[in-house]
Amino acid sequence: MNKLGFENYQETSKSYDTTRVPIGTEILLGCFASTPRPLSEQIVLDGGCGTGNYIEVLKSKVGTIYGLEFNEGMLRQGQQKFTRDANIHLTQGNLLNLPYEKNYFDGMMSNQVIHHLVSEEDNSDKFLLLAQMMQEAYRVLRPQGILVLNSCSQKQLFDGFWWADLIPQAMQRVAKRFPPLETITSLLAEIGFQEGGQIVPVDAVLQGNNYLEPEGPLNKAYRDGDSTWSLATEAELEQALERVRNMNADGSIKQYLEKRENLRRHIGQTTFIYAYKG
Ligand SMILES: C[S@@+](CC[C@H](N)C(=O)[O-])C[C@H]1O[C@@H](n2cnc3c(N)ncnc32)[C@H](O)[C@@H]1O
Repeated sequence: MNKLGFENYQETSKSYDTTRVPIGTEILLGCFASTPRPLSEQIVLDGGCGTGNYIEVLKSKVGTIYGLEFNEGMLRQGQQKFTRDANIHLTQGNLLNLPYEKNYFDGMMSNQVIHHLVSEEDNSDKFLLLAQMMQEAYRVLRPQGILVLNSCSQKQLFDGFWWADLIPQAMQRVAKRFPPLETITSLLAEIGFQEGGQIVPVDAVLQGNNYLEPEGPLNKAYRDGDSTWSLATEAELEQALERVRNMNADGSIKQYLEKRENLRRHIGQTTFIYAYKG
């Protein structure tokens, strides 16, 4: 049960933690704290928890956290982190069919996951699998429970990641998989969620301190930290890497990174969309 979506997470799991950091954890805590029960008594689900990066930060604040992850490799990395934490429960499973009873969770988060909920057969722009995932979330949340989805807006995809400009065709391909924020909010409303809001962290990046590494894309482990690279053809990838090599050789990379950072600084890389079960 490992092939899902477009990235090979079995392979990526080996280096994932060196390329990604959990950003916006203070936003998540604020969202969960806005529901009726005290955080220390809450039961929260991390849907598509990957290697458990978010759980690691939240575990001392939240009563009990369940993590659901499809990919064995990612899940195993996570399990190794929590062998001594009786309040953390990781399970292999699919967000489209949650293995939990109804009205069980105070809160649910899904960080950088929903762009994987796109079926190859569905060419419509209806995001049917995302709607199915939201329905499942609605079922397992308690009344007044909160769902928080952390995903990128279309603008964030193109201007929030400096290398997006190097692989424009791959970005176009990935952008089709990211539901526009308006689609997310209207699907939430259709399913019965009550509107919460949107929050953008602009002072943090998903790649942490490695983000502005001028030679980063030349390194496969660095590229593995963002699934967009896996959508570039060999020729597109080679062309992008050639540009990176040239800019590093002639020194223009510094100016290029500054120009790209000027855009990202205003819009951030990701948006937290939250809504309540009525
Ligand atoms: C970019 S990673 C994010 C991991 C983690 N949430 C984080 O932010 O570090 C996306 C994860 O979603 C998982 N995933 C994708 N579709 C899923 C599904 N239908 N059910 C459960 N997990 C899924 C992938 O296996 C992968 O581990």
